[in-house]
Amino acid sequence: MMQSARHHDVQVFQLAERTGRMNASVIREILKITEQPGVLSLAGGLPSAASFPVAEVREACAQVLRDEPHAALQYAASEGHLPLREWVAADLAAQGVECSPAQVLVTHGSQQALDLVGKVLVDDGAPVAVEAPSYLGALQAFTPYGPRFLPLEGDEGGPLPEALLQAGAKGRAASDRARFAYLLPSFQNPTGVCFSQQRREALMQAAREAKLPVVEDNPYGELWLDAPPPRPLASHWPEGTVLLGSFSKTLAPGLRLGYVVAPTPVYAKLLQAKQASDLHTSGFAQRVVHAVLQSGGGTGPSFLQRHLPAVRERYRAQRDAMQAALTRHLGKGFEWARPQGGMFFWVTAPAGVDTLACLPQAVQAGVAYVPGSA
Ligand SMILES: Cc1ncc(COP(=O)(O)O)c(C=O)c1O
Repeated sequence: MMQSARHHDVQVFQLAERTGRMNASVIREILKITEQPGVLSLAGGLPSAASFPVAEVREACAQVLRDEPHAALQYAASEGHLPLREWVAADLAAQGVECSPAQVLVTHGSQQALDLVGKVLVDDGAPVAVEAPSYLGALQAFTPYGPRFLPLEGDEGGPLPEALLQAGAKGRAASDRARFAYLLPSFQNPTGVCFSQQRREALMQAAREAKLPVVEDNPYGELWLDAPPPRPLASHWPEGTVLLGSFSKTLAPGLRLGYVVAPTPVYAKLLQAKQASDLHTSGFAQRVVHAVLQSGGGTGPSFLQRHLPAVRERYRAQRDAMQAALTRHLGKGFEWARPQGGMFFWVTAPAGVDTLACLPQAVQAGVAYVPGSA
């Protein structure tokens, strides 16, 4: 009698070496705990579901299926839906970033763009400069490609320009130079820091001088609460910057739509990597998002100009409530900066408090957070 394969406990498959470097995202693991009913989750950057433009998405789905059902449901170009790429290029131009639609690659969330960047720019053992702390999902995306992470020294205003100089050409052998610096200039995940205009200029001057390309991840720029952030880093050195953007925080993350803008030689390789990965991003989702962005049309304010003030208002109220609660409940010795945008408070506990060890107790008491050690 044949035995079913699952009764053999011998390892039939030999896993690739790189799988040894893959690890479950600590945040996703924590999110699983927080899915228990009754737990108030302060972990993970989940957008407020009340901010999703449900009516506009419903209308856009109907419109796309009515007006161009066959094109929307057919295979499509890997670069992305041209009208959406034109929208992205125009939006970036308005922020001071020189960019043509030909440089915009539409991705399955900016998370896919991070994976493509890792695939195209990271060799085994190659140094990659990162903020400390940085976005865990990016570290997770890059890690299978074998980088050596170089933490950039910084202060409360972000990484220091001298740290970029050191990570780049200055004083290092070629093999020891960082391939790029991964930077989150606007309302960083997880610290909430927004680099000032002056810091941005100094960083990009240092990056140019050190010939250290920059990968700029900017999903939170539109979620400013007090004042818009300064121009993106890419506006200071377009040929040396790969810029990632996302519709997850401005519209809804379930749409899984983001983009990467890259100089031509890098773009060509990102495109090939994308082709191998998933051929193209859903043409249906791209058309729906484009229709939402165009909705209300005419010469008045754009959809986002009408939609984002209410989103910001909601997050401003949440930020203020969090600020008040932290002030009220945290004892002496806890420190944090009030974020001016985005979704994150980075709280430093007094010496002797192990935030990882406290987490189970916190979850039992109905609150979850991400311990900094992650
Ligand atoms: C800094 C940063 N980059 C990228 C992402 C990925 O976002 P998405 O794939 O939804 O665009 C996130 C998600 O939280 C993030 O915080």
